[in-house]
Amino acid sequence: MRIDRKSEIAGLGFSVPDRIVTNKDLEALMDTTDEWIVSRSGIHERRWVSGETGTSDLAIAASRQAMERAGVNAREIDMVIAATITPDYYFPGISVQIQDQLGMHSIGAFDIRAACSGFIYALSVADQFIKTAYAKTVLVVGAEVQSTALNVSTEGRDMAVLFGDGAGAAVLRAGHNERCVLSTHLHSQGKYLKELWCEGPASRCNPRISEEMINEGRHYPSMNGREVFRQAVTRFPEAICEALDANSLSIDDVALIIPHQANLRISQAVAKKLRISMDRVYSNIQRYGNTTAASIPIALAEALDEGKIKEGDILILAAFGAGFTWASAAIRW
Ligand code: UT7
Repeated sequence: MRIDRKSEIAGLGFSVPDRIVTNKDLEALMDTTDEWIVSRSGIHERRWVSGETGTSDLAIAASRQAMERAGVNAREIDMVIAATITPDYYFPGISVQIQDQLGMHSIGAFDIRAACSGFIYALSVADQFIKTAYAKTVLVVGAEVQSTALNVSTEGRDMAVLFGDGAGAAVLRAGHNERCVLSTHLHSQGKYLKELWCEGPASRCNPRISEEMINEGRHYPSMNGREVFRQAVTRFPEAICEALDANSLSIDDVALIIPHQANLRISQAVAKKLRISMDRVYSNIQRYGNTTAASIPIALAEALDEGKIKEGDILILAAFGAGFTWASAAIRW
């Protein structure tokens, strides 16, 4: 069967909380310094929610903007795929809240829990549904509220300074144009699960969360930063090269790489390995920190708003994170 149906990104949107938390603000909460955070991660500030804002609230705001920019109304969306590891509730996921609150038909809606690679995983799934003609217009979202999961004391400082809240969304639409998702590649290696994970609440435990677990801090995310860093600087270039090879492209054909915003030093190491300058590797981690599944769609939306993406440009999205999972996507704009 010849498949020539493709998917294009018809509109992008993003939403971050108003509350800016600077490195100086964190100095007041834990034993850390602006100098340490900037030199180790590149982060100057991040956005954290206040009150009872949930991941779905940010996701819905980002989705509204993406749909408006795509010129698509809620009734035209025929699937919602939301990437998040921080849904409002233990179940169900945020995709059904998006479906309901934006007034969509009773369409398929589901969440993907692939952490930092989540948005590319969701994009890949949406792309397959469009190529096989199951769906015409899919809303793909990456959204997280990480701040409420963090231990904001000295004990949790290695994680607490890195993460931020936010959401990004893309409307993916069927087309037959040059402007399309060219390929996606997804990977995982579950043997590294405990290098970056959050144990509780857990279905292995009865009750799923106990006082003992809380006292031991097993409900906080934890990471072996050095191991994650070491693997990230290999997996990012590998995933990018896989995208290039699949499309017979060279790195010189790529206008912009949009990596998951994990650490500015990781992006710099990737640029060095690929022998390209940092103006071709988009970064906004300075202002938002690591927003997990939201970081790529936020970066994509901002890069477009800043005029860094032009018609016909080749873009490569790449991610690495918990699982471990890693992924890439090649897009012609
Ligand atoms: O999005 C998912 C993917 N995530 C990533 O890709 C993150 C990958 N890892 C990293 O980005 C880096 O490993 C970190 C930014 C997390 C840490 O940087 P590092 O250069 O690997 O530092 P380290 O973990 O080796 O810690 C160095 C020192 C330690 O003290 P000692 O043992 O040398 O005395 C830490 O206790 O820095 C200390 N430290 C801090 N000091 C001040 C750890 N966190 C902090 C902090 N403020 N917030």
